[in-house]
Amino acid sequence: MALALTLFSIRPSSSSSSSNPSHFLQPSLRSPSTLSPFLHSQPSFSPLIISQPQINDSSLFRFQPSIHTFFHCCCTTYTANTDVQFGTLVSLFEEIGISFEETKLLLLNAPELTSIPVDSLRARVHSLHSLGLDRVSIYYLVIKRFTVLTDNEIEHLLSFLRNELQGQLEQAKLKRLLSDNEPKFLAGFPQKVQLLVERGIPVDKIVRVLNKVNLSKALCHRSMDEIDRIIGFLEPFGGIALIVKYPPILNYDLDYQLIPRIRVLTELSGGDECGTGKVLNRFPIILNYSVEHIEEHIQFLRSFADFDDQQIFRIVSVFPAIFTSSRERKLRPRIHFLKECGLDSGDIFKFLIKAPVFLSISFDKNLAYKLVFLLKIGYKYRTKELTVAIASSTRISCENMQKVMNLFLNYGFSSEDIFAMSKKHPQILQYNHASLEKKMKYLIEDMNRDIQELLDFPAFLGYKFDDRIKHRYEIKKGLRGGQMSLNKLLTVSSEVFTGKPKKASSVKSELK
Ligand SMILES: *[C@@H]1O[C@H](CO)[C@@H](O)[C@H](O)[C@H]1NC(C)=O
Ligand SMILES: *[C@@H]1O[C@H](CO)[C@@H](O)[C@H](O)[C@H]1NC(C)=O
Repeated sequence: MALALTLFSIRPSSSSSSSNPSHFLQPSLRSPSTLSPFLHSQPSFSPLIISQPQINDSSLFRFQPSIHTFFHCCCTTYTANTDVQFGTLVSLFEEIGISFEETKLLLLNAPELTSIPVDSLRARVHSLHSLGLDRVSIYYLVIKRFTVLTDNEIEHLLSFLRNELQGQLEQAKLKRLLSDNEPKFLAGFPQKVQLLVERGIPVDKIVRVLNKVNLSKALCHRSMDEIDRIIGFLEPFGGIALIVKYPPILNYDLDYQLIPRIRVLTELSGGDECGTGKVLNRFPIILNYSVEHIEEHIQFLRSFADFDDQQIFRIVSVFPAIFTSSRERKLRPRIHFLKECGLDSGDIFKFLIKAPVFLSISFDKNLAYKLVFLLKIGYKYRTKELTVAIASSTRISCENMQKVMNLFLNYGFSSEDIFAMSKKHPQILQYNHASLEKKMKYLIEDMNRDIQELLDFPAFLGYKFDDRIKHRYEIKKGLRGGQMSLNKLLTVSSEVFTGKPKKASSVKSELK
């Protein structure tokens, strides 16, 4: 990959880089955003009517000088030479879509523009254009921050973006980068990208990472040292892999966000950095939550569910999204419900490890339907049995649950039968309906069994179809074992099923 070959060739910019036109001005400290007041206070230019090109016609770029002169310019302080210079400047800007009026205002704000050879400005416009920026974008950029045309460092940056990053930075990112940052914040950009690569971000991932971060926050407004510290801090928690997986992690402030937020989790885990890293890797958005928010959730689980920190961290590990669930609207009523069903703290912990999404699924759109199904087939409110069935049913959609119920009813089971089977083997409530149907059909049509056998052995529905059910049945059917119980056919281990030929015979022969 060509990108790989060149990324390492960047040198720290010695500011008088020979490739840069040395006559370009240093960044002006004036803010170009002070333009607007002038828009209303400078009516004296109005007599000069310049036909303004259509802004959206990007074919209007003509990168050759086109001489217009404006000898009627009101600014009598210009010499004849600067008049020519001014004229070509106006015509260059006109090509970008900047009107004569706007050019005047720009010059009031940045008189130094006139002392830069127009060819250099033109070359810069060309350079921006070659990165894919269209005329409208360049227009807004120049109006907002004329230093994109005048500052030396910008050329260095542009050639880095073009040559090293192969122009792959997204347009929106590029526009933000150039318009939101003063040149002094852009100067170190290439070195900072190089630092990321040196610290381990794969070259083929670097553009993707850059496209997903706020470049101003993550790079421009940070020193090399700060970037280095962040990478170092994240190391025990997954480091580069975590950054590549979730680039926006670089947007967080190290001292005010990353360190305190990650510390809360590490402390909860009892110092388990690896475990904390897994949580971050699984659910990096957790970092969006303030220390207070996370602590309040933890405190709630301690006091309301009577969990210790180890239990809470285990729940967070299987379900880090717990922090997105509101304490009062979700956590409290759900845990209260489990308590009402007779679960103690230990039971609630086991329940949540198994079915943590119970805490977050919608009541109206999800849980309520399932409860209705379960109560309809015979479960009783406020019983432990009900919580077991709920734990199983949280894993499937309401549609699937409905289809599973209909399937059983179609095959002749009553509600009581489904209730009985689900008490024996709660997982039947979480199987996919299509796979259930396939197995039930096979049981009746190929194995020639009575569907009612499922009442004794509902676990039949949980075995893998090809690997276990079909495979074993085909072996046995020729051996007049065709009518052995489903339980016997399926539950014995593979070794027992195949008769442990090797071990058994070798032991026997040794005994002889
Ligand atoms: C990026 O960060 C800057 C500076 O920290 C901020 O002003 C800007 O709003 C952010 N941009 C986005 C798109 O969030
Ligand atoms: C995280 O926070 C940032 C900044 O406040 C916000 O832009 C972003 O949408 C949040 N992400 C999520 C998934 O909540």
